[in-house]
Amino acid sequence: MARQPYQDAARQKAAALAASGHARILAIETSCDETACAIVQDGRHILSNQIYSQIDVHRVYGGVVPEIASRAHLEKIDVVLDETLAQAHCSLDEIDAVAVTHGPGLVGALLVGVSYAKALAYGLSKPLIAVNHIQGHIAANYLTYPELSPPFLCLVVSGGHSHLFRVQEGGHYTLIGCTQDDAAGEAFDKAARQLSLPYPGGPALDKLAETGDEHAYKLPIPSVEGAYDFSFSGPKTAFINLLHTHAQRGQTILPQDAAASFRKSVVDQLVMKTMRAMEDLGETRLAVAGGVAANSLLRRCLAAECADKGYALYLPQLALCGDNAAMIASAAYWPLMRGELAGMNLNAEPALRMSSYCTQS
Ligand code: KG4
Ligand code: ZN
Repeated sequence: MARQPYQDAARQKAAALAASGHARILAIETSCDETACAIVQDGRHILSNQIYSQIDVHRVYGGVVPEIASRAHLEKIDVVLDETLAQAHCSLDEIDAVAVTHGPGLVGALLVGVSYAKALAYGLSKPLIAVNHIQGHIAANYLTYPELSPPFLCLVVSGGHSHLFRVQEGGHYTLIGCTQDDAAGEAFDKAARQLSLPYPGGPALDKLAETGDEHAYKLPIPSVEGAYDFSFSGPKTAFINLLHTHAQRGQTILPQDAAASFRKSVVDQLVMKTMRAMEDLGETRLAVAGGVAANSLLRRCLAAECADKGYALYLPQLALCGDNAAMIASAAYWPLMRGELAGMNLNAEPALRMSSYCTQS
């Protein structure tokens, strides 16, 4: 019998998985500074989730150094895969499909994961699914809440994104609003740097803010044209000016008060715009996604507002807010069921946008 080319074999296997509705997906995520691998059953149940964080490697530089990130992924990915398989008590033969983040992210870092996943899928003759990192963050909610299904509104807040999406059935999204300049995580990181907090700044600023007075300094909430759009560059500049003015005048400023005031200005804006969108669009279910979903004030404020309005709130468990591969495996389940497979020509797409899945509101 003639040997089937890879793509035919992958398609046949995907069709059989779609018919059964079941799939054990192995996912790889290397878009930034986490080398992550996970195995998820049916998009909902984590069998294993391993993350090698490069934080210690990059901390001395005060941020992620792309070349070092790529090399560290290359050095660690074999070990992380072995640990993932061992934790799930599963062999590569027992994997049904391979998923990988192909963008957005650092090109060299993405390429490690994409090349590795392609080699695995080809070698095992299994379907390959390409996942957008942002879709992965949204899918972290499906792991925390196995009963959750679209439609719902999702606030995506990470180091590179601040978006409001209406998540619909069938992998469709409507973009409701987005940042006009910096992302919320980026603003937290830059403010943290001003306070000489260690990288990564967002979690450090959040921790410090817990001990400060959030009313100590008033930072502006910028007016943005779009009703549900964000802007964080104004508050960030106002924060930097506040620190400089105090320094020039020889006045001391308590770092915890500065951190708490800045955190409040970012969170107030996120909560205000999100609640406005919920109300205007008649939504009743809100999910949050991305690294900043771990922010303690954001979680508290959204919980209070949603309880007040009677909305259902979905917050990913803390371990699934930051970058991980379980969310990528979860997000891959639905395209796999629809037969949307990647080929061996899959490439890293550092500037990949959500627009191909989006309709404009
Ligand atoms: O989703 P993520 O891990 O990576 C990206 O896709 O960007 O998000 C990382 C971002 C960083 O900016 C980090 O400082 C921020 O999320 N972050 C936080 C907190 N934990 C992580 N920002 C504020 N408060 C936190 N607790
Ligand atoms: Zn991320």
